[in-house]
Amino acid sequence: MRGAKPVEWTGEKLRILDQTELPREVYLELSSPEEVAEAIREMKVRGAPAIGVVAAYGFALGALKLKEKGAFALSELRRVKELLASTRPTARNLFWALERMMRAAEQASGPEEIVEEARNIERETRRADELIGENGAELVRDGMRILTHCNTGALATGGEGTALGVIKAAWRKGKKIFVLATETRPRLQGAKLTAWELLREGIPFSLITDGMAGYFMWRGEVDCVIVGADRIAANGDTANKIGTYTLAVLAREHGIPFWVAAPTSTIDLSLPSGRDIPIEERDPEEVLRVGSERIAPQGVSVKNPAFDITPADYISAIITEKGILRPPFAESIRKLLEAT
Ligand code: MRU
Repeated sequence: MRGAKPVEWTGEKLRILDQTELPREVYLELSSPEEVAEAIREMKVRGAPAIGVVAAYGFALGALKLKEKGAFALSELRRVKELLASTRPTARNLFWALERMMRAAEQASGPEEIVEEARNIERETRRADELIGENGAELVRDGMRILTHCNTGALATGGEGTALGVIKAAWRKGKKIFVLATETRPRLQGAKLTAWELLREGIPFSLITDGMAGYFMWRGEVDCVIVGADRIAANGDTANKIGTYTLAVLAREHGIPFWVAAPTSTIDLSLPSGRDIPIEERDPEEVLRVGSERIAPQGVSVKNPAFDITPADYISAIITEKGILRPPFAESIRKLLEAT
């Protein structure tokens, strides 16, 4: 992303842009797995692929610290893995990255090789974004009005982004697109993060509240919906930011294509369907407040699932770094992953 570096490995520390402070650009230097775990839990860094990259470096920091203390051992590294894995339950990339780090640790003679695996994960995540952008831009026609949800850009991946990466790639190819970005209650990733990224890219857009999406579809002002994913089950059912399912149902009602953009590291073949995906329930305070202002009376009961499931049947295409998948997804996902 132009100018800002959402995630940067300095050689011995991890530097991240604190996403909760935007539009102020505040950077945090994290030097232990505990600090990394806290940053993920508090959503200072968020978005499935970015969580995976940052967790990999958190694991590498753990390995470096253990070496310093003379306690470099697989049993200790397993504890580091568990700590990082306990932060957010839905994003597949977190577990994918930590499983890879643990496998690298089992082969490694010292922490340097473990750091190298974290670098590989970062490089691969960036490259996947580029390819997702290239593949997805083929679907975007000149003049399209695109609705997107949550933040799926550089802040969410450390590369160019997934859904927002497709939007950027189409724009850079000279397609005259227009974006409607939903604000994305309760954490407002659309208003705070996507709006920030789109402004920096100079892509024309309007910010809308989540409840406005149906109205704009009904007016005929949306040509496609592109969203990211936190976890995709083997049958294509997709967990993504709460509100995604509502958009998919609306899109079907209005005959609008609904595209999911995600790296294959977000696909979880061990889960047959979306019903098996764990959905994170977050602090009620997120719903009770907007910023620091309390908006509901005392004593109100709250539900706050951070994600929902869009059944595969509502998805027109899944854009990955390895190609564009079409329904039936159980088959196309299996074939793609078997072939590569
Ligand atoms: O709770 P968040 O902000 O981590 O949720 C992020 C999303 O739901 C994104 O759409 C998803 O991670 C894809 S990001 C490329």
